[in-house]
Amino acid sequence: MRKITANVYMTLDGRGEFPKYPGSERPSEDVSALFRHMWYDRFDDVTTVVMGRRSFLGHQRTWSEKAVRPGESKWLLAYRRYLDRVEKVCLSHRLKTTTWENSRILHGDLARILTKLKREEGGNILVEGGPAVVRECLRRNLADDYWFFVMPVVYGKGPRYWGPMDAQCTLDLLETKPGEDKEILLHYAAIR
Ligand SMILES: NC(=O)c1ccc[n+]([C@@H]2O[C@H](COP(=O)([O-])OP(=O)(O)OC[C@H]3O[C@@H](n4cnc5c(N)ncnc54)[C@H](OP(=O)(O)O)[C@@H]3O)[C@@H](O)[C@H]2O)c1
Repeated sequence: MRKITANVYMTLDGRGEFPKYPGSERPSEDVSALFRHMWYDRFDDVTTVVMGRRSFLGHQRTWSEKAVRPGESKWLLAYRRYLDRVEKVCLSHRLKTTTWENSRILHGDLARILTKLKREEGGNILVEGGPAVVRECLRRNLADDYWFFVMPVVYGKGPRYWGPMDAQCTLDLLETKPGEDKEILLHYAAIR
């Protein structure tokens, strides 16, 4: 059975933003250990990436190979190529067509969409954002596991991940991993 993982990028106060903090904007020739763990090491394993419309369009604009910038490091190019070739599911009522290769548009209840994807052939499924879609996964505990990339910032603004829940959600901690810029990766499995 395909596994559904949600990637959650949050500040310490649970906001879905990418604030600046020491080291966060340092250009790097080599991929960081956390980025390698969260993406590179999963290139073969994850064959479908699910995103809300805004996140999907933002990723296409910023991270497809067409958006490559001169002098960029090789590891970023590899990430762009992965995103181009992986199957992408864009959730949207408004969008009817897309120009990003290997993409399709679905709409409806998120739990039903994820169940449908799970029944299809393929490797594992990654819910990559944005915060609205991930928040629904958390609220309804729709993923099999969660990777929380926690940035060392109490930001006080931006979309909240945590709010009212359908029911208590208790998770099983599988792994913690510190980042070189004081982030921490928390990997939890859902308890079913
Ligand atoms: N910190 C993070 O984790 C993170 C990650 C990625 C992106 N971002 C940033 O967050 C912003 C976008 O996040 P967001 O939360 O505002 O938007 P989002 O989740 O990317 O997209 C929301 C849109 O997805 C569509 N959608 C969601 N669920 C659906 C469903 N079940 N069926 C049909 N359509 C569905 C709707 O589009 P329609 O109106 O077309 O129906 C909705 O307006 C971007 O600026 C991006 O840079 C942050």
